[in-house]
Formats: sequence, structure tokens, C-alpha cells
Amino acid sequence: MPPIGIHDIAFATTHYVLDLDELARYRRVDPAKYHLGLGQDTMSFPAVDEDIVTMAATAAAPILQRHGSDKLRTLLLATETGVDQSKAAALYLHPLLDLPSTTRIVELKQACYSGTAALQFAAGLISRDPTEQVLIIATDIARYDLDSPGEPTQGAAAVAMLVTAEPAMLQLDSPSGVYSDDVMDFWRPNHRTTALVDGKLSISTYLDATSRAWTDYRARGGRGLDDFRAFCYHLPYTAMARKAHDNLLRTVGVEWEPERVTAAIEDSTRYNRLVGNSYTASLYLGFISLLDHAPDLTGQPVAFFSYGSGCVCECFSGTVQPGYRQHLRTADNKERIAARTPISYFRYRAMHSDRARYPSNLTFDQDTGGPYRLTEIIDNKRTYQKV
Ligand code: HMG
Repeated sequence: MPPIGIHDIAFATTHYVLDLDELARYRRVDPAKYHLGLGQDTMSFPAVDEDIVTMAATAAAPILQRHGSDKLRTLLLATETGVDQSKAAALYLHPLLDLPSTTRIVELKQACYSGTAALQFAAGLISRDPTEQVLIIATDIARYDLDSPGEPTQGAAAVAMLVTAEPAMLQLDSPSGVYSDDVMDFWRPNHRTTALVDGKLSISTYLDATSRAWTDYRARGGRGLDDFRAFCYHLPYTAMARKAHDNLLRTVGVEWEPERVTAAIEDSTRYNRLVGNSYTASLYLGFISLLDHAPDLTGQPVAFFSYGSGCVCECFSGTVQPGYRQHLRTADNKERIAARTPISYFRYRAMHSDRARYPSNLTFDQDTGGPYRLTEIIDNKRTYQKV
């Protein structure tokens, strides 16, 4: 079997950004709680005409521009912010991205985890026919109730990944460790636009699940802790990476100096600190952040911990490929985050509340500065446009 993995990767986020200093001021909270306690500085917030589809299109477009779509046979879209209970959101991408009609398209859901399920399914498809390529798009808007403890951990982003044989960026290892259980730590019933969460339970379940997935990964022949140059964790907020890594060290029964822990996780948290939680996209945004910020990673193994509440956790690994730096979009990525438009606290609150009551007929004024927008919902049918 040829090596299989991530050949190209790109992300998109929203038009707006809310400064957490502003949120702290109005919530009468010490801003240090957000900056140090949670490890978050700002959070992405969508314009009225942005959603998971517009972010998905924006993330995938540069990948399709670079590689074309001739070999594309499957598009897997992972989200927990679905716009329809039946139709896969990725079908709206057909006209926006000019996708071939010979593409198999499906949407996957399991909280923040389903992007990783997509990656494993893609590897399976490509091992059957290495000439096929699979496009994965993980796209989500993390939304909690206003004034709730989860509010400062909102955010939004999409990550698109082209998975192929002979990948240019990351070759996946085959062992993978999995843990799943039925836990009510975080969920969003069909009638709600915001998630419900038992915050403390969600943290302890995340920690327990990552250590159990690691134990399974090792039992199935995975690499040892010292083999890894870097660790990418699912990042609901960036301080979670340190909690998770300290917990992993306790699981393994070793002690690392705090500086060594920082060196192993920090580069993967830099974008997420500014974007916020992006659910399915979060782990992979962390990987892009690692590639864009770390010194040369050529030939280095990286460990990944994908956690989705409810819960499923998977630990897997891969090796960064020679020449990967030629394919990065580091300057564009930094510019995309820096170019977001600041939104005032009061406009943010008004838009947050409006999102909870979309009628079946609505036309949206142009609000986003991005390349794709939602123009209207008429008779419950959504229409998107390339700007
Ligand atoms: P909270 O209860 O308001 O915060 O909400 P807290 O009181 O626990 O404080 C948070 C941290 O800030 C603590 O540090 C405080 O000590 C510190 P820790 O004990 O954790 O190390 N702190 C300060 N630090 C410096 N200066 C200060 C200060 N004050 C306090 N002045 C919570 C926190 C995360 C629970 C909340 O934001 C929440 O419910 N978030 C949503 C749920 C979540 O993110 N869970 C994480 C694990 S589950 C997961 O990752 C899955 C998920 O992505 C969903 C999916 O899978 O789809 C969420």
C-alpha cells in the first residue's frame, strides 16, 4: 500500500472578530480569566451572510485552484452546525466550487470528532484505489448561550484537506487508538441553535478519553511519547492543550519540564487563540498553526488527539513530509486572521440573538467581505453566491 495522508490543507474563518477584552468588560470578568485561564484572546464571529457553507467554500477554493478536481472522487464534510437535517451541506458547494458531478458527497457528524472519522474513511478509500483523491472539509460555528460560561469559548472556522496517496505534507501512520462512550457532557438538541454543556464534566471526560485513546494507540503498536516533536490536541480553548498534555504525561507516568511541554504544544495553539473553538475544524486549524509557526518539521512525527463530546476520541500520528514548506500558505493565513473586522459587543449580541430565529423567508444584505455569501432563504431554500 502506498503512503497516504494530507497532501494540502487550507482554512477560512469569519468576517468579524470579537475582542475578548470587550466581552470581559461587559461581563465584568477579569480579562486574565480569558487570556490566561482559557488561553483565548479573540474569537471569530460570522457575518449575517456567512455560515458553514460559505466558510467551507472559502477554505476549499485554494486547494481546488492548486490541484484541480480531476482526481476528486469523494467530498466528506464534517460539521455539527448543519444547515439541514437531510441534505448534505457540501452539495451547496457544487455550483460554488464547480465540483465534478462524479463526486460522492456526504456529511458526517459526531461533535468535534467527525473530521477525524472523515480522515480515516478517506485513507480507507484511497488504499482501495490510490489514484482517487478525497477532499475533507471540517466547518463549524461554535455557539453557546449569551452570558453562559461557554460564551468566551465560541469561534468559527473551516479547514479543507486534500487526502491522497504519496502526500506532500503529512503521511499518516496506520495505528490509531480509539475510545468512545455515551456521556452527556455537551450536546445540541435539534430545536436549539446553541449547544448545551456541562463544562466541568466536559473537561474531565475529554481528559479521560484522551488518555484512554492513547492507551489503545500504544496497544496497537503506536509510537512512544518521546518519538514526537509536537502534539496537536482538539482545542475548545487553548489552555485545554496544556491540561491534556499534563494528563497524558501522568497517564504515561513521566514528568516533563514546563518548558518542554510548552515547546511540544504551543505552536499548534497560536491560530486557535485568535479564532476560538471551531469544533470539527479546531484540531486541524491547530495542525496548520503548527506547520506555519514551528521550525522545520521535516521527517518529524506529530501526535493528534481528536475529541468530540458525547463522546468519541481518537489518537493517531503522522510524519511531516520533506518539502512541505513549499506548499504552506503562511503569509495568507496570518493575513486572513489579521484582516477580520472588529465587531462591537452590542452588534455581536444582536446578531447572536437574530441567528436563533431564522424565518423561512429572508434576504440577506451583503455583510461579509469574503468570497462566498448566503444571499437568501426563500421557501426554506438556501441560495449562495460567489461574490
Ligand atoms: P468557567 O466555569 O466560567 O471557568 O468556564 P472557570 O472558573 O473554570 O475558569 C477557567 C479557568 O480560568 C480556570 O483555570 C481558572 O482558574 C482560570 P483551570 O482551573 O481550568 O486551570 N481563571 C483565571 N486565570 C487567570 N486570572 C483570573 C482567572 N479567573 C479564573 N482572574 C468552561 C470554563 C471551559 C467550563 C466554559 O468556558 C465552558 O463550559 N466552555 C464550553 C465547554 C468546553 O469548552 N469544554 C472543554 C472540553 S469538551 C470539548 O472540548 C468538546 C467541545 O469542543 C464540543 C464538541 O466536541 O463538539 C466543547
